[in-house]
Amino acid sequence: MNFGVFGTGIVGTTLATKLVSQGHKVIMGARSATNEKAAEWVKKNGPKASQGTFEDAALNSDILLNCTKGEATLQVLKLAGEYNLDKKILIDVSNPLDFSKGMPPTLTVCNTDSLGEQIQKQYPLTMVVKTLNTMAAPVMTNPRMLPGFHVIFLCGNDANAKEIVGDILITFGWKKEEILDLGDITSSRGTEMLLPLWLRIMGTLKSGAFNFNVVK
Ligand SMILES: NC(=O)c1ccc[n+]([C@@H]2O[C@H](COP(=O)([O-])OP(=O)(O)OC[C@H]3O[C@@H](n4cnc5c(N)ncnc54)[C@H](OP(=O)(O)O)[C@@H]3O)[C@@H](O)[C@H]2O)c1
Repeated sequence: MNFGVFGTGIVGTTLATKLVSQGHKVIMGARSATNEKAAEWVKKNGPKASQGTFEDAALNSDILLNCTKGEATLQVLKLAGEYNLDKKILIDVSNPLDFSKGMPPTLTVCNTDSLGEQIQKQYPLTMVVKTLNTMAAPVMTNPRMLPGFHVIFLCGNDANAKEIVGDILITFGWKKEEILDLGDITSSRGTEMLLPLWLRIMGTLKSGAFNFNVVK
């Protein structure tokens, strides 16, 4: 499978590294085709890893992952090119956080809308699946680093796309019962609005090595 990862930060590199280790080809996209962080990642990850612009990453991949700063995401997708996004699964890991006024950050969209929905509205032919955004990067691809049962939320409008993404999550180490499908893409409101709480918990625990659980 060919994956395009938009984003050179901790999330982009963590997910891209996991996918390459599983034998997939991964192109890491950035604003510049010669982005230094992406180049460093390519150097460490062998022949299945490559880099390019956001457009290169979208054009040459079957499944896309958005791991860019929430404030920049819509601009990034514009750079990737609508035709390169059409009919593809886009796993959206971003959060619409504005840190410009320091901590705690504010949500740039919430309550009646979300970044996941904005992406889906702007690119109706793309199958947006929102997931992985409610935990720190190391937990995303190594859920068993935490003891016991804990959950990963997933939502989106396309059932088949959610099934495919669920299968990818299982290859990351998630158990099928831990994947909570919350329904259509409007559920992004809830998962994105968990971030202010997530950040406060991190501040209290002084660690990002935790996750949410749901007990019935
Ligand atoms: N950090 C975590 O553990 C964590 C956990 C869950 C979810 N998230 C979410 O995942 C996303 C990625 O987080 P991160 O910490 O890995 O990285 P980040 O610093 O939030 O984002 C890095 C990426 O955003 C792009 N970017 C920044 N400003 C841009 C602009 N003005 N125009 C175009 N692109 C721009 C950068 O592109 P260039 O490479 O071209 O500079 C880079 O690839 C965020 O939305 C974050 O909220 C993070």
